Amino acid sequence: MGFSVSWSWFAALSCLLSMGGEVWCQCTEDNMQITGGHYTLTRKLERGSMLVYNCPEGYYPYPVLTRLCQPNGTWKPAPKKFAPERCRIIECPDPSVLQYGNVSPPQEKYFVHNATTYECYSGYTLRGSSRRVCLPNGKWSGSTPICSRDTGANCADPGIPPGASRAGNSFEIDDTVKYSCIGNLFLVGSSDRVCQENGQWTGKEPACYYKHTYDTPMEVAEAFGGSIKDTLTTLDSANDTQEGRTIRISKNGTLNMYIAVDISESIEEAHIKEATKAVSKLITKISSFSVTPNYDIVFFSSELLKIVSITDFMTGNAVLSDVKSQLENFKVVERDTAGTDLNLVFKNFLEQMALIKQQVGVEGFKEHRHVIIIFTDGAYNMGGSPAPTLAKIKNMVYMNHTSEEDAQSRLDYLDVYVFAVGADVFDNDLQPLTVPAGSTDRHFFRMKDITNLQETFDEIIDENEVKGLCGLHRDYDLYNTKESQRKMYPWYAFINVKGGTNCLGSLVTPRFILTAAHCFKFGDLPEDVKVEIDDGQGIVKKVKNFTLHPDYNVNAKADKGVKEFYDYDVALIQLEEDVQISTAVRPICIPCTQETSDALQLVGKSTCQQQEQLLLKNHLENLNFLTKAVQLVKKKDVYAKLGDNRDSCIAHALEAKGITTKDPKVAVTENFFCTGGRSPFRDHISCPGDSGGAVFKNYEHRTIQLGIVSWGTHDLCKSGDLKESIENSRDFHINLFRVSSFLKSVLGNDNQDEFAPLTFLSD
Ligand SMILES: *[C@@H]1O[C@H](CO)[C@@H](O)[C@H](O)[C@H]1NC(C)=O
Ligand SMILES: *[C@@H]1O[C@H](CO)[C@@H](O)[C@H](O)[C@H]1NC(C)=O
Ligand SMILES: *[C@@H]1O[C@H](CO)[C@@H](O)[C@H](O)[C@H]1NC(C)=O
Ligand SMILES: *[C@@H]1O[C@H](CO)[C@@H](O)[C@H](O)[C@H]1NC(C)=O
Ligand SMILES: *[C@@H]1O[C@H](CO)[C@@H](O)[C@H](O)[C@H]1NC(C)=O
Ligand SMILES: *[C@@H]1O[C@H](CO)[C@@H](O)[C@H](O)[C@H]1NC(C)=O
Repeated sequence: MGFSVSWSWFAALSCLLSMGGEVWCQCTEDNMQITGGHYTLTRKLERGSMLVYNCPEGYYPYPVLTRLCQPNGTWKPAPKKFAPERCRIIECPDPSVLQYGNVSPPQEKYFVHNATTYECYSGYTLRGSSRRVCLPNGKWSGSTPICSRDTGANCADPGIPPGASRAGNSFEIDDTVKYSCIGNLFLVGSSDRVCQENGQWTGKEPACYYKHTYDTPMEVAEAFGGSIKDTLTTLDSANDTQEGRTIRISKNGTLNMYIAVDISESIEEAHIKEATKAVSKLITKISSFSVTPNYDIVFFSSELLKIVSITDFMTGNAVLSDVKSQLENFKVVERDTAGTDLNLVFKNFLEQMALIKQQVGVEGFKEHRHVIIIFTDGAYNMGGSPAPTLAKIKNMVYMNHTSEEDAQSRLDYLDVYVFAVGADVFDNDLQPLTVPAGSTDRHFFRMKDITNLQETFDEIIDENEVKGLCGLHRDYDLYNTKESQRKMYPWYAFINVKGGTNCLGSLVTPRFILTAAHCFKFGDLPEDVKVEIDDGQGIVKKVKNFTLHPDYNVNAKADKGVKEFYDYDVALIQLEEDVQISTAVRPICIPCTQETSDALQLVGKSTCQQQEQLLLKNHLENLNFLTKAVQLVKKKDVYAKLGDNRDSCIAHALEAKGITTKDPKVAVTENFFCTGGRSPFRDHISCPGDSGGAVFKNYEHRTIQLGIVSWGTHDLCKSGDLKESIENSRDFHINLFRVSSFLKSVLGNDNQDEFAPLTFLSD
């Protein structure tokens, strides 16, 4: 038998004697192929490697999603001749569980892209979607259709989700309905719901998932975001402004966040990098909410790797930026132990809580809230079930109320979220670990992989509640399209004034664009000004009015040897209507406003000077501005020469055309930043068309505008684009800290009811 001979020969070749003397073998790729798809190996054919099958969209690997290479060179599970691996079409759970109505077309099975329509029997009315389509993640679009008629019951018919069956047909106060999923589907959400006095059912509508059903990043963002935000913010909804509600810091109580990331070998190696990025993103996002939680972050397999400990936070020995750099520098080392000990993670968190309690006392501990977030593939195989440890955690936080019912008033103080990530998750073990159990907010998520987790966490903050926050942006661009790039620079606007001047501008409130005064000529009218900003409501915006700085006068120093004098080169354009704020269109922060103090996390009463000290503390300050390129914009990199560096920088102003004075300070007043040149760094230089654009700086996750591109000594480019400075070329930008009273006079004007004013600091 030729086959078996060659097999044993190959197996012999790939068995190695390890240092310790034991024999271990490599796995082989024989019989591993998948019809209709392909596979990847996490560690080639070495032991511990995971083989992950991939199928095109709309399909999933069957009968298994992954196989693991065991030390003796065999795969687990082993491939089976009678059930060859193949890509199967995605199926959605059976929708014909609908009561009192018809589902068409009637089918035995429903596959991806199949559409269904729902009609109720006469006398019954439909709630939910009348048409649903089976989506590639194994879920139906829209919401569960329910046919019901008014029976005078206290609660409305809660319906039956696709793939489920329900016990309980009475909907009066305290009646319970119980759900289960048909066949091999498993239930996500509340299996028991109780009709309450207020006419609402407890918990959340359950859903039936196949092994191939996943939550999309959007779904996770919406559900997790909605839930976590309640923890991170208290909304000041009494003062509804046009900008939407403003977020306030939650004043009382301390928030402790415990994050655990599974890095056991059962989670793909490449994904660990993504996981660290995602955790870093999550904590950055949380910090932009102006809350400052204490963190406990661990990576785990059969052992714990501590990134940061909550007690270090409490004693002030850890700060957020350290955590982020530790996460970035985290390297996966070769691990010998392949297990997953989730119980160890919970034990660690329990210990941390006990330490907090010891430090702050029982009374103080009452004010502490705890949020636990676990990312895992769920295959915990060591340390036993974490459930008893979780019970101790609940007991501690709930102050010895043993059940959640008894602990109603304490429920807000503990949340446990579980993200089941990866190809093969063991969901049934994981769901019971979420807290609170019957929450109306989702605490359990099932994600295909961790790669789009970063994006997920970005979506979280892009909801309505944060519309008013200035300077929020994304710090990466996955797609390099106009739309995706706007999310990095959501404030920019193109400005054209009839007669030829092209400028850039920045959105500083939904109603105002900040730009340079020299973009306008004497006698220009609002209708001559074209503002372009693509907010999905028409690109060209109607201009109501524009206002130049009252001290701007280009001829003011013509007799002092400065032909064109650009001091106070600042203007504000008022639009007819607010632009539509979104991820891609959002104001930048400007100095001396309360909004910017919030962005900089200056707590309590802060000053303009404090902001300046924070943002311009170095004598060489790295700043950026944009330039228009084909279709997109590009970012220029410059260094503002401040303090001791300033004089030699502005000296080059004398080389500009039209300047005959011997004193550069006549042309370049204290109101300008100076950038350009080649030392110590080679700066970019401004081009025509860059004028009026924001000179900005990123601080944590927010962008602050510090200046406006005004004028330069040398014209090195015909139009926009990236251009490097020569030795003696210089650019000068209006320093917004020096013109804040003008900004305040227009943007802070609260004696009108046309637009929502910004809040300027009093000094
Ligand atoms: C390889 O090891 C696994 C688990 O250690 C065991 O179940 C299996 O029987 C072994 N296979 C062979 C061919 O030795
Ligand atoms: C449902 O999807 C399957 C697989 O794509 C297809 O063969 C079938 O025609 C579809 N049925 C309907 C009614 O569209
Ligand atoms: C709402 O705004 C008004 C005016 O700015 C202020 O007097 C009032 O205290 C605010 N209300 C709340 C609840 O913050
Ligand atoms: C916050 O403080 C208020 C008043 O001091 C108190 O009524 C409330 O219960 C506290 N909330 C939390 C979450 O501690
Ligand atoms: C809870 O019970 C433990 C042990 O029985 C006890 O030490 C602790 O003081 C109790 N805590 C409260 C808040 O009653
Ligand atoms: C334009 O703005 C200026 C300065 O704010 C103001 O004096 C003037 O009345 C405005 N014009 C119109 C038409 O609103």
